[in-house]
Amino acid sequence: MNIAIILAAGEGTRMKSNIPKVLHKICGKPLLEYVLNTCEKAKIDKNIVIVGNGKDKVIESFRNEEIIFKEQPIYEGAPYGTGFAVMQGIDEVPDDSNVIILYGDTPLITDETISNLISHHNNGNYDGIVLTAILDDSTGYGRIVRNESGEILKIVEQKDANNEELAIKEVNSGMYCFKGKVLKYALNKIDNNNSQNEYYITDVISILNKDGYKVGAFAIDNSIEIYGVNTRVQLAESDYEMRKRINEKLMLEGVTIIDPNSTYIEEDVVIGRDTVIYPGAVLQGHTTIGEECIIRGDTRIINSKIGNCVEIESTLIEESIVGDRCHIGPYAHLRPKSKLGKNIKIGNFVEVKNATLGDNSKAGHLSYVGDADVGCNVNIGCGVVFVNYNGREKFRSHIEDNAFIGSNSNVVAPVHVGEWGYVAAGSTITEDVGKGDLSIARARQVNKAGWVEEKGFNKNK
Ligand code: UD1
Ligand code: CA
Repeated sequence: MNIAIILAAGEGTRMKSNIPKVLHKICGKPLLEYVLNTCEKAKIDKNIVIVGNGKDKVIESFRNEEIIFKEQPIYEGAPYGTGFAVMQGIDEVPDDSNVIILYGDTPLITDETISNLISHHNNGNYDGIVLTAILDDSTGYGRIVRNESGEILKIVEQKDANNEELAIKEVNSGMYCFKGKVLKYALNKIDNNNSQNEYYITDVISILNKDGYKVGAFAIDNSIEIYGVNTRVQLAESDYEMRKRINEKLMLEGVTIIDPNSTYIEEDVVIGRDTVIYPGAVLQGHTTIGEECIIRGDTRIINSKIGNCVEIESTLIEESIVGDRCHIGPYAHLRPKSKLGKNIKIGNFVEVKNATLGDNSKAGHLSYVGDADVGCNVNIGCGVVFVNYNGREKFRSHIEDNAFIGSNSNVVAPVHVGEWGYVAAGSTITEDVGKGDLSIARARQVNKAGWVEEKGFNKNK
């Protein structure tokens, strides 16, 4: 059995935030969620998360997940350090399991690396191994000290290191794999006699070495994976790296992203092949976009499903469904529960909310289609408003197939316009319109001949 202990109790002081560090987001998801997802993909059987600072918020955010939370006591003068944090979870670890130690603030670690770490541990029959990386600049990290034959001896923290040790380029990622029983043994032996008066998990390595256990190191090539978030600058860099991974994966699957650096796509977004994404697109949540679509301008799409061959320009789409071959925008807004059939045109400054539109219908300009069921081949003229709210309650309107709603009309819900029903421009419709009928609901035009002359309005003052 493989068990992860994920450390997430630290203060995160350098974030300068009221939000616990592991809840800060990159590409729309909290840092901790990436680590948990990685564990799931690496087939870890049980996740133990050590919480402390801001624990209530962290537990609340992940309350639906199968996680064992263990609280590290946080008070003035309480024991502190990565070793002490691991101790809080150790009771959940059976002797015969592997323990994988990870950090909640290191979101770039991949499941492939975790799986390799575990295999290396098992195949080499190690009691414990540490994941390391070679960095050009090892500042801030614990250094990996090896003997002449290359075996790992110990890990020295920057603050406890001598000049020779400071020059070492191989660093401790902070991630390890131990045999459960062996880790319990070593944890009992660590103390806080160091420059920071902290219990260091890193001391486990030298303790095991001294006591004749088999200790190893597993170096990764892609050192970005161990990159941790301590500041907002590092948060942005992690976000950049995550975005790059997401965009590259999509491009390799057949999506054209014209400028990946200015395209923000979250991990769960699915995009079909030959779709082209122009700069400025923001695609979020569980959004699915079909094949051969074109997404242009400042378009943001959240939790929506877009069909094939759809063109969207500078538009906001939230929790909606868009059928094949639709044209949307520029500057349209599909609010939640909008459902468009096929080949629909939603044009400039049109807002749709909680409404369905059937195939081939059009709302080309300046309209509000709220709480309505609109059939197929319906034309909604410029400036039509579906008046759905009386200040207290909302009502729906129904427009049947092939109806025509003239420009600048108000459709005051609840109202029904029958098939081929025809609403004259400028009408305020408060009663049903029959099948094939014309409805004109406005005052008749009155022309007063010579009125301007009579009033003297044409004389300059
Ligand atoms: C630690 C390692 C260092 C390694 C580096 C990699 C130790 C002593 N040092 O240093 O060798 O190169 O990580 O990033 O382990 N945490 C708790 N409770 C605590 C203290 C920390 O949960 O009492 C958590 C933090 O939230 C964080 C992680 O442990 O997620 C690492 O703590 P941090 O203080 O950042 O360790 P470093 O000093 O960076
Ligand atoms: Ca750190």
